[in-house]
Amino acid sequence: MSTDNKTKYKDPVVIGISGASGSILAKKTIDILLDKDIPVVATCSSAARMVWQEEMDESFQSTVSRWRENPNFSFYMTGDLKSPIASGTTPTLGMIVTPCSTATVGAIAHGISSNLLQRAADVSIKEGRKLVLVPRETPLSAIHLENMLSLARIGVTILPPEPAFYLRQQNMEDIVDYLVAKSIDALGLPGFMEDRLRYDRRTD
Ligand SMILES: Cc1cc2nc3c(=O)[nH]c(=O)nc-3n(C[C@H](O)[C@H](O)[C@H](O)COP(=O)(O)O)c2cc1C
Repeated sequence: MSTDNKTKYKDPVVIGISGASGSILAKKTIDILLDKDIPVVATCSSAARMVWQEEMDESFQSTVSRWRENPNFSFYMTGDLKSPIASGTTPTLGMIVTPCSTATVGAIAHGISSNLLQRAADVSIKEGRKLVLVPRETPLSAIHLENMLSLARIGVTILPPEPAFYLRQQNMEDIVDYLVAKSIDALGLPGFMEDRLRYDRRTD
């Protein structure tokens, strides 16, 4: 089933943006969800803003202001532990942390919850909701791998932003679109990978 059928979603997807390289992944993920009329609640760490400044042409503030024009979008500061996504009583469709730093992987793996992003991830786990992490680092140390393994064992999806070389994608945009579709698909929302694969076939 494609979301072009206008499946109506009331509950939001939570998007956490942390300070790993790959700000474009966060931007595209939110753009695509909003484009599909899926509500989004976003938060980002302080480090994520620094990385965004290095990697993106449009400032983080301008991008958030543009997103805010959409009534389906809301944003909470990293220190706002009173926000709805800090509590399990707020229903959500799950959470994607993209990109996900190894520091945030470690904090989530150990239930640290020292900022809103980590707390929202902790809530997703305790409420038994889908949590998808897109960790970007290379090489990975044994510490990183052990943290990811402990999360994978409790059902968290670890989805490193690796290109599908077999699809022979020609540019960064194609690779990012594929990874974004894959991470949304991992939440269990239908249609995103189907749309992506249809697109890939069209460009063959
Ligand atoms: C430009 C830049 C790129 C970074 N890239 C990565 C990265 O790819 N992966 C990673 O784990 N940390 C990366 N870091 C380091 C994290 O930002 C740092 O560990 C930070 O404390 C993470 O905080 P957060 O998890 O709260 O966002 C990068 C930092 C900067 C400034």
